This record gives sequence, structure tokens and C-alpha cells, in this order.
Amino acid sequence: MDDRFRQQWEANAEAFADLIAESGTPHHRHILNPCVEQLLGDVKGKKLLDAGCGEGYLSRYYAGKGASVTAVDLSERLIETSRSLAKREGIIVEYRATDICHLDSIPDHEFDIVLANLVLLNVPCLREALREFYRVLREGGHLVFSIVHPAFNLYGPGSWEMGEKDPKTGRREGVYFKVDKYFDEREYERYWTTRTGERFPAAISFFHRTLGTYLNALIASGFNLVAFREPQPTADDAFFDREHRIPFFAVFKGEKG
Ligand SMILES: C[S@@+](CC[C@H](N)C(=O)[O-])C[C@H]1O[C@@H](n2cnc3c(N)ncnc32)[C@H](O)[C@@H]1O
Repeated sequence: MDDRFRQQWEANAEAFADLIAESGTPHHRHILNPCVEQLLGDVKGKKLLDAGCGEGYLSRYYAGKGASVTAVDLSERLIETSRSLAKREGIIVEYRATDICHLDSIPDHEFDIVLANLVLLNVPCLREALREFYRVLREGGHLVFSIVHPAFNLYGPGSWEMGEKDPKTGRREGVYFKVDKYFDEREYERYWTTRTGERFPAAISFFHRTLGTYLNALIASGFNLVAFREPQPTADDAFFDREHRIPFFAVFKGEKG
């Protein structure tokens, strides 16, 4: 794979780990993670691959729930951060710096579950990654993957028409969401910002694909689609007014048939 993707994550490793801060952002905690956990089901005693683990808080969480977790990431710096955080918490996770599109060091039929949380939208090689996930799963094993919803992605084909700032929530009102060029699949780059509003050191590449592309790639890799979710915020919180109206994430569950 093009080394620039690895370089982007290496450059942003520290800023990304600070952003995640061992528990994820409010969007992760109150919208995405409860949905992913529900789709994963009881992980106790299961072998779980966390593909594109990042700072690794989900690896540690599911290891704490009794899964035997292997965590992989393209960034050696993020793998090092994940390893030291797990060590500090006394949690056992096996780590490997590797590309999810080429999981050569992992034998066939190794895992009960593959989790790819917010990673497939960052890889150019969607089909290769899905084929690798299929290969390393046992028969009947499950893949759960999440992406930022491609129809309503602020960084992709759309943006909110913004209103006034709500003094109670500190967020600007979303008047309506504008979408264009949804079918124009493409790579684009964005800088994320830290919790204190500074720009990340390097731009990050994203790949805009339609929902149909994800679904058809999943099916073409041999998976049966068993669930598709557009999770809403778990709390009735005014802060998430926009996310109650339009899905922020999309979550897929496939079964190796
Ligand atoms: C948005 S972060 C998500 C991290 C983590 N899954 C989470 O939910 O916090 C995307 C992660 O995917 C990793 N990544 C990007 N391309 C990858 C690839 N081809 N193989 C393995 N990891 C990759 C990045 O280094 C980064 O840690």
C-alpha cells in the first residue's frame, strides 16, 4: 500500500491518542459504541480481532469483557501507545503493526469476531480488507464494521446549513443538511482538530463510497448481511439535536456463511 497513509497516522498518532483519551469522543460514547457493543453480543471467551485499533480503547474494553483480543494497526506509534496503555491497566492484548488489507501473519479461521471500527473509510483497499476479514474468521464468525454515514458525512458530500450558536449546548443549530455528489466516489483529505481546537499535524485521507458500495463489497466477499444500523444518540440530549435528525454513523454486521 501507498506509504503515505501510514505516514499520516504516524504523524497524527499522538494527537489522535489525545483525542480518544481512553474512552472516545462524545459521538463515540453516546451514539456509536453502544450500537457496536450490541451487535458484537457477548464476547466472553471469543477470539476478537480489533482491525485498525488506533489508541486501542476498544481492544482494552473487550479484553476486559473476557475476549481474547488481537489488535492491529498500520501505525507503529499507535500500536506502541496501545501496548503501553494496556500494560498500565494490566490488560492482556496481543498487538501487531500491520496493514488490514494484508493480514499475512494471521492464519485462516483464527477469529470468532472481527471489529473494524471507523477504519474502512480510511483505507483505499476496501475489498482486500473485507476478503482478509473473511479469511481470518471461522465459519459462522462475525464481522462488525462502522463508518461515518456516507450520505451525511460532513467531510464528504455534504454539510449543515448552520444557524445560531445555542448557549446551552455550545453548538450551532443545524438548520438543514445539504448533500451533493453522493455518487462521486473519491479520496479526500481533512485535518482533524484536537480537543483544544488545534489542527492535527497532518491531513488524513478518507475514501467516500456510497452505502451500496459497502454493502455490495461485503456480500461479494462472501458475507451474509445480518444487521445494518444507523444508530441514534442513546440520551435525549439537546447537544445531539443534529444527530437525532440525521444519522452520523452506519454500522454493518456480516456473518461468514
Ligand atoms: C479513525 S481511526 C479508528 C481507530 C479505532 N478503531 C477507534 O475506533 O478508535 C482509524 C485507524 O485505522 C488505522 N489504519 C488506517 N489504515 C489502516 C490500514 N490499512 N491497516 C491497519 N490500520 C489502518 C489508523 O492508523 C487509525 O488508527
